[in-house]
Amino acid sequence: MYGKRILLGITGGIAAYKIAYLIRILKKKEAEVKCIMTPASCDFISPLVVSTLSENEVSIEFWDKSSGKWNNHVDYAKWANVFLIAPATMNTIGKMANGLCDNLLLATYFSMKNKTIVAPAMDLDMYKHPSLLRNFELLKRDGVGIIPAESGELASGLFGEGRLSEPETIASYLEAFFKSDTQCEGKILITAGPTYEHMDPVRYLGNHSSGKMGFSIAKAALSKGYSVDLITGPTKQELIHPNLRRFDVVSANDMLHKVQELWDKSNYGIFSAAVADYRPAESSEIKIKKNDGEMNFSLVKNPDILSWASNNRSNQQKVIGFALETNNEEENALSKLERKNLDMIVLNSTQDEGATFGGDLNKVTIFDKNRNKTELPLQSKLNIGIELINIISTFDA
Ligand code: PMT
Repeated sequence: MYGKRILLGITGGIAAYKIAYLIRILKKKEAEVKCIMTPASCDFISPLVVSTLSENEVSIEFWDKSSGKWNNHVDYAKWANVFLIAPATMNTIGKMANGLCDNLLLATYFSMKNKTIVAPAMDLDMYKHPSLLRNFELLKRDGVGIIPAESGELASGLFGEGRLSEPETIASYLEAFFKSDTQCEGKILITAGPTYEHMDPVRYLGNHSSGKMGFSIAKAALSKGYSVDLITGPTKQELIHPNLRRFDVVSANDMLHKVQELWDKSNYGIFSAAVADYRPAESSEIKIKKNDGEMNFSLVKNPDILSWASNNRSNQQKVIGFALETNNEEENALSKLERKNLDMIVLNSTQDEGATFGGDLNKVTIFDKNRNKTELPLQSKLNIGIELINIISTFDA
């Protein structure tokens, strides 16, 4: 981010403490950073910390009471390549969306010519509140980028969505933004999570997929301006965004039916779900009772959703598959790339410690349809999602 001029707006929420670290990351990446703080934010992080780390004076009020100097919001707005507001409270988001201008930070926002991006942080019920979702919609329409909050433990002690994105993640968003600050249009269909294939009302065949990879791709796509249809198997992941439609399914057959319903409206399909290849031939309506002997049951093959999408697409639609392998990784992935006639395949291996199922990290190798290879080392699933979406956004260029 050498030489990029980042104006950082800090509003009054407990997550403001993370901003010190964010400034350090941005400075390490050689960006120029100037900061505007709301008066409320000074209760959460000291302006001295912010000015020291950013190596620039911090402005809080319209004018400096000791020197009488006017802090010109228009100059700030002209200077900035991007205005990042982090953490963005419900109060500030509401005012931005509805044209209320009662502090320097807001006056600067309303004077901006270049992009503004908000990284919200608040408690989980506030983050789901219809009023906030309406305001997100308005901001989106005004061209503001939104870095979705993450899920986790909140300052209130509750657990859920509303945590400020981690500083590394915010920095990645900014990097992706500067790589291509044009916002993309189009719809991406994403499958995520496991499928559960029921044997009876209490037992199923499933796998360890948490849905994190698919949800991370969805987050990255939304932040780049795409609309997303996210079809997910059973998962604890949460994601709210005005341009997201989420469809919860259970079995492979349910997932296929949803894909069949939505596919012709999509420009791209990214199939990251871990779909069960087989299901029990019969599913009992009542609990199967234990008996003294062995129990055998037969399995039938599930439909291949990725192959269905690939075989039923127009020339414009692009299909991206995943390959989860335990051995002969590249050979197996390349065979899937060709057999399923894909535009790209994303290989991940259970041999790589800390990657694939469940965790926040992944390590992948991407092959395009000409077998060109890109390796992405172990990093957050969100970063992998951002890289994938960056590649996809060049498909039509
Ligand atoms: O959810 P996480 O915990 O974050 O874990 C992420 C992940 C490891 C599940 C993910 O990164 C991943 O690898 N997803 C694909 C898992 C998988 O089923 O791989 P596969 O090699 O068996 O399938 C190949 C491709 O065909 C995949 O795109 C899969 O979605 C698709 N498929 C497979 C079977 C089937 N019946 N229908 C399908 O569409």
